[in-house]
Amino acid sequence: MAAINEVTDLTNEGDVAVVTLNSPPVNALSAKVREGLDKAFEAADADASVKSIVLICEGKTFIAGADISEFGKAMTGPSLQDVQNRIENASKPVVAAIHGTVLGGGLEVALVAHYRVAVPTAKAGLPEVNLGLLPGAGGTQRLPRIVGVEKALEMVTSGQHVPAKAAHAMGLFDELIDGDLRAGAIAFARKIVAEGRPLKKVRDLNDKIDAAKGKPEIFADFRKANARKFRGFLAPEYNIQTIEAAVNEPFEQGLKTERKLFMELMTGPQSAAQRYVFFAERQAAKIPDVPEDTPTLPIKKVGVIGAGTMGGGISMNFLNAGIPVTIIEAKQENLERGVGVIRKNYENTAKKGRLKPEDVETRMGLLTPSMNLEDLADCDLIIEAVFELMEIKKDVFGKLDKIAKPGAILATNTSYLNVDEIAQATSRPESVIGLHFFSPANVMRLLEIVRGEKTDRSVIATAMKLSKTIGKVGVLVGVCFGFVGNRMLAQRQREAQKLILEGAMPWDVDRVLYDFGLPMGPFAMSDLAGLDIGWDPAKTSSSTVREVLCEMDRRGQKNGKGFYDYDENRNAKPSPVTEQVIRDFAAKTGVNQRDIDDQEILERTLYPMVNEGAKILEEGKAIRASDIDIVWINGYGWPVYRGGPMHWADSVGLDKILARLKQFQNEMGDDFKPSALLEKLVAEGKGFKDL
Ligand code: 3HC
Ligand code: NAI
Repeated sequence: MAAINEVTDLTNEGDVAVVTLNSPPVNALSAKVREGLDKAFEAADADASVKSIVLICEGKTFIAGADISEFGKAMTGPSLQDVQNRIENASKPVVAAIHGTVLGGGLEVALVAHYRVAVPTAKAGLPEVNLGLLPGAGGTQRLPRIVGVEKALEMVTSGQHVPAKAAHAMGLFDELIDGDLRAGAIAFARKIVAEGRPLKKVRDLNDKIDAAKGKPEIFADFRKANARKFRGFLAPEYNIQTIEAAVNEPFEQGLKTERKLFMELMTGPQSAAQRYVFFAERQAAKIPDVPEDTPTLPIKKVGVIGAGTMGGGISMNFLNAGIPVTIIEAKQENLERGVGVIRKNYENTAKKGRLKPEDVETRMGLLTPSMNLEDLADCDLIIEAVFELMEIKKDVFGKLDKIAKPGAILATNTSYLNVDEIAQATSRPESVIGLHFFSPANVMRLLEIVRGEKTDRSVIATAMKLSKTIGKVGVLVGVCFGFVGNRMLAQRQREAQKLILEGAMPWDVDRVLYDFGLPMGPFAMSDLAGLDIGWDPAKTSSSTVREVLCEMDRRGQKNGKGFYDYDENRNAKPSPVTEQVIRDFAAKTGVNQRDIDDQEILERTLYPMVNEGAKILEEGKAIRASDIDIVWINGYGWPVYRGGPMHWADSVGLDKILARLKQFQNEMGDDFKPSALLEKLVAEGKGFKDL
């Protein structure tokens, strides 16, 4: 082996030159990697004894993309385009030998090779869209030339990782290699040479491009079908435009269009936010006093207590991961209903073709329903999801203490209650932790992991690891009312309620927050959940707008009227009845109504959330500002292109937010009292990013 540089080797296997990259963790295209590739291909091409060249990677994956950590910094070493030109223009066949994930710039490198072979477990994709970008190294011009315009559109706008078999079927991989990839790729390269096959340059393939010429409806239909999904994001539209350019412009011109749009995205705020989120998510997995080598406990069997809304969804996460679950209920009928809902969910997924019918049975086969808490004796992890009442939770944990095996993790899914108080009901508070799932628990990616005063580090490490196993993003938070997410949400809810009394209508508040990029506003959300949740007809006293609406039998979407009126297709429209209820309520309670503009709605609902986030940081209830952002993106649908509330606050300017909070505080009182941290950051001219 001849070392080209620290991350690149060049070896001749007879007449085949093998270029090997080894740049952990993911062989990203850093300056060193680009330099290594450039020199290695120059040498191999110049070596008269070499008849073909194989490019392969060590470690867990082929090149997984450009090095995102270099973005925004001055470029050193050869450009990716220079490296690609050298590979594509090599005078002998180049074969990319692919394993792991060939992504982004990595796939764009593979696309300038003349042939691509892969192991059957490999996956290919152009995930730049998830970073608010588009493939900027010819991917948008080459991909449609192989897979066709429709599939290319799908791939660049979804960022999906296409499994090897499908990639082979669409022509992206020329051959799948069972067994040793290196040997297989070398044999493939020799075969190419022996058969005298051409140096196939993807840029020269025009059949699939020609097939889409003069059919603008392909793009119009695609935009229309995905409008909802792409709402608010710039990158999907830009990606579509580059594929359009591939069809309508000559190759070189298409590359120029791609570059121009790429640079626009790269220097804009959306991509900055999305790149920030990429690293923030990985950062959240790191806990300063729980090092990566902290021992974890094996979780082979899980118990869930309560088969209601949450217990069912929580159980599904483990069944999906192949981990057996015993689910316990207090009432037989609730047990049957809960298990029935799980089955129905799986059957619906199977009907949509997203799960094989036999998998429905496999998953249900892992579920053991029971009415007997003692059946949890051999579980490694037990998650309680019973009613949100401290007395009941304590009773359950007291009993569990006597039943659970030593070392078992005892978790509560409480939304608001004090995890330390619950832990005190046991003789082993070190084993107790909060695992706060979000509804629907089988869908929402967030898992708030609540660290109690005495929670053992190995229990925390296990919970963090487990969150990955079940496809969640775990964020460690401290004990406080509502933890991070709901505590901040309460600020927004309070202001939304105040705003409608002051003169904004529910649909005004909802529209502003929806247009900001949230999935729905607070009033549409209340209608969806049901206005009568927690409402007691025996105790109602017309003390809030919501109570009055419930008293009028306006219970939300389920009976066609709540804050909004609903038609038979559940389309919402502003309700004159609700409007009158609100105006009467304001008059009764002496609130003067006035015109409220959209900007005030935004500031009144979101700035107090930012302020609360600062208090959470001040109190050490979240480790870092970016953890708060990950909570809001994955638990509440905060638009990822705005990077979460704390990142967004930095982009607005903390001085501006502080000034407005002070003004609100003068006018409306201490709900808006700025946190000391916010004051300090502004005084020092810093942002949350500097913490
Ligand atoms: N650049 C820099 N660092 C990267 C990286 C990249 N492209 N991809 C991953 N990393 C880092 C991560 O930050 C992480 O670092 P850490 O250990 O210090 O936290 C480490 O590699 C491992 O990453 P994961 O924890 O995500 O490992 P997984 O095994 O779970 O996933 C992966 C591997 C599927 C490759 C995943 O990391 C991933 O999706 N990476 C991003 C791929 C991507 O978006 N590529 C396109 C980049 S943009 C581009 O190529 C532009 C071009 O068109 C010009
Ligand atoms: P739910 O009312 O739908 O289900 C609770 C279930 O627990 C009921 O089926 C009940 O019969 C059962 N139960 C009550 N006491 C029991 C006992 N001693 N032993 C066994 N089963 C018992 O309630 P939901 O919504 O599932 O909430 C459960 C917990 O999850 C609460 O602590 C709640 O705060 C929390 N949570 C709820 C979210 C939501 O959106 N619904 C979101 C996140 C957390």
